[in-house]
Amino acid sequence: MNDNKKSIIKILKNSEGNPVSGQEIGEKLGITRAMVWKYVRALRREGYDIRSSPKTGYILDSCPDKIDPDELRGILKTSLIGNDIRYHLDLDSTNNTAREIAPRVPEGTVIVAETQRSGRGRMGTEWQSVPGGIWFSLILKPSIPLENLSKITLIAGIAVANALRGIGVDAHIKWPNDVLVKGKKICGILTEVSAEVEKVDHVILGIGINANIKLSELKDGIRKNSTSIANEVGKSVNRTVFLASLLYEMEQEYIRFKTRQFTEILDEWISLSDTIGKDVRVTTPNVIIEGKAVGITEKGALVVLDKNNKKHEIIAGNCRYSDQLLK
Ligand code: BTN
Repeated sequence: MNDNKKSIIKILKNSEGNPVSGQEIGEKLGITRAMVWKYVRALRREGYDIRSSPKTGYILDSCPDKIDPDELRGILKTSLIGNDIRYHLDLDSTNNTAREIAPRVPEGTVIVAETQRSGRGRMGTEWQSVPGGIWFSLILKPSIPLENLSKITLIAGIAVANALRGIGVDAHIKWPNDVLVKGKKICGILTEVSAEVEKVDHVILGIGINANIKLSELKDGIRKNSTSIANEVGKSVNRTVFLASLLYEMEQEYIRFKTRQFTEILDEWISLSDTIGKDVRVTTPNVIIEGKAVGITEKGALVVLDKNNKKHEIIAGNCRYSDQLLK
């Protein structure tokens, strides 16, 4: 958006519903009243609801529900994550863009899109990325061995759950990385990695949050097991503000990951877990394991006790709860 339009929005936001005349705006920006009017009309076309009265001036009634990258940069309280924010109206997948640019950009770079044409989920599934969600990828460059990769996914789940809890949404984590509210999915995380000889080069954390999406836009099979923030809190959230708080939570977890014992993180993950204690069926490329989820290992593997009391440690797989298998 051009600087004059940005300034007009800022002036109208600051006036908190009181009218501001075209004259006053023009003087502040060093442009004519006619130019102000031209920008106001352009802003209306972009979805800003600006009332105008010839006697009093302009009032901003509402802004389009878009993530505002400038506002995001302004309110971010992080020192690494989000230092570089790439905002797009539409992409095929933020993870694809992240993968392309990762070698050339600093750690902490965030790619966010209003919609994705080919959003990807885990295990080769499609991720429906309709307007109103928060679809983004975060590039991290931790110097860790490849076998520790799942830990990064676990911290992302904790960060999302904590950001949701911060706005009163009772979020829990389903192993390995779904965030659920009352058993319904509100967020999915897709971790992709580039590694050389067992050492991580960069990690792409692709995070999809059903923020203000219309659940009715989701496909039948997905809809019944999904929820959104708006559905849980009863109104739309400001996605820019929520994303800022999530990136902050993510940075806190990342700092903790680098500076503290991982057992501290595991304890928090377990306290947020939806899975521990449940009867599960975990499908991996090689086997299907059924039993009770009893814990999680240092490496982030799910520990399942089967009916013969044999312990299985599963590092990656698709987990379903036994009581939902027939539903
Ligand atoms: C899952 O639960 O299957 C993971 C879903 C991950 C979706 C996000 S949205 C942003 C990023 N870009 C993608 O294509 N996928 C991830």
